[in-house]
Amino acid sequence: MKAIGFTQHLPISDPHSLEDLTLPQPVPTGHDLLVNVHAVSVNPVDTGTRGGGRRQLAQPKIIGWDAVGTVTAIGDAVTLFHPGDRVYYAGSYKRAGSDAEYQLVDERIVGHAPTKLTDAQAAAMPLTSLTAWEALFEKLHIPLNNKAANARHTLLIINGSGGVGSVATQLAHWAGLQVIATASRPESQQWVRAHGADQVLNHRQPLPAQLHAAGYKNVDYILNLSHLDEHWSEIAEMIRPDGWIAAITENRQGIALQRLTKKRATFAWEWMFSKSWYGYDLASQGEILDRAAAMLDAGTLQNTLTKTLNPLNAANLRQAHALVESGHMIGKVVVTGPWAN
Ligand SMILES: NC(=O)c1ccc[n+]([C@@H]2O[C@H](COP(=O)([O-])OP(=O)(O)OC[C@H]3O[C@@H](n4cnc5c(N)ncnc54)[C@H](OP(=O)(O)O)[C@@H]3O)[C@@H](O)[C@H]2O)c1
Repeated sequence: MKAIGFTQHLPISDPHSLEDLTLPQPVPTGHDLLVNVHAVSVNPVDTGTRGGGRRQLAQPKIIGWDAVGTVTAIGDAVTLFHPGDRVYYAGSYKRAGSDAEYQLVDERIVGHAPTKLTDAQAAAMPLTSLTAWEALFEKLHIPLNNKAANARHTLLIINGSGGVGSVATQLAHWAGLQVIATASRPESQQWVRAHGADQVLNHRQPLPAQLHAAGYKNVDYILNLSHLDEHWSEIAEMIRPDGWIAAITENRQGIALQRLTKKRATFAWEWMFSKSWYGYDLASQGEILDRAAAMLDAGTLQNTLTKTLNPLNAANLRQAHALVESGHMIGKVVVTGPWAN
């Protein structure tokens, strides 16, 4: 099969940072689906994993998480899918990734792809939808079906225009919350408003002063989707007593949790790969993806695709990595088939 991978962790400007490869096609066993991958999207986890290591690898490493494709074969324990089903998923951090013509993925972390979306649109959605959903409804414990109660509560999303923020803003608006999202440029500010933000703050300027100027004393929830070290002090200042904070980006230095002591505020991490990494509650991810697919088909959730490249080869995947590495993506970039290397 065709695949795209690397044996050295190189800057994306180096043509060897991602290379076209030919590898044996894997065979499904147990709960695994064999999926013919049609399109992939690139997330910061792709660029971080590709660029982050130091070692020269003995075997090519195939990364890639977001994918849409067709099931072509199934393991003997599979009950949820059949060959021919169109699926979308974000995969596991432990296994070979979606930058390959065929990939094995556990059926329990897979969703039925939204039927009204193109391959490129569907591939843009799984990882960010899982992250946003888990952060809002599992880690911040925002009630799913209580719009009236949620309407009295405020959520600040730091980085509203990136991949995760674009979905989190929509889901929070749908859940009934008053949504305040940050974006720093006219185009990203317009994007977050279009996706349901009631107020927009600029994360390049001090946030507490802007929050107060917008008429808010503090906020009930904060979802941090950007550099935690940079924003921590402001987060601790803006959260209300007994408020909830969730973050998805690891801090590089220690963060002062004692800043929350007197406010009794709760801090939680979200890592989209926790369930597949530790092997628990796997089916909840398939359920979230099916629910997101129904919302995408109904138009309750808008797909967040902003850039499509094709065909699927190393040159286009390098271009997509470079866009994500710029740190200024609005929405998502996807590389679609056919496979052509
Ligand atoms: N824990 C998990 O499960 C999980 C899952 C997904 C992602 N992540 C992590 O979460 C972060 C966001 O992911 P993503 O896919 O949404 O990223 P992304 O799409 O690359 O985010 C791009 C956006 O970041 C904004 N931004 C840049 N600098 C910022 C700053 N200093 N403060 C606030 N916003 C800033 C930019 O807005 P402007 O151009 O308007 O400044 C841009 O629109 C990444 O670090 C990623 O690794 C974690």
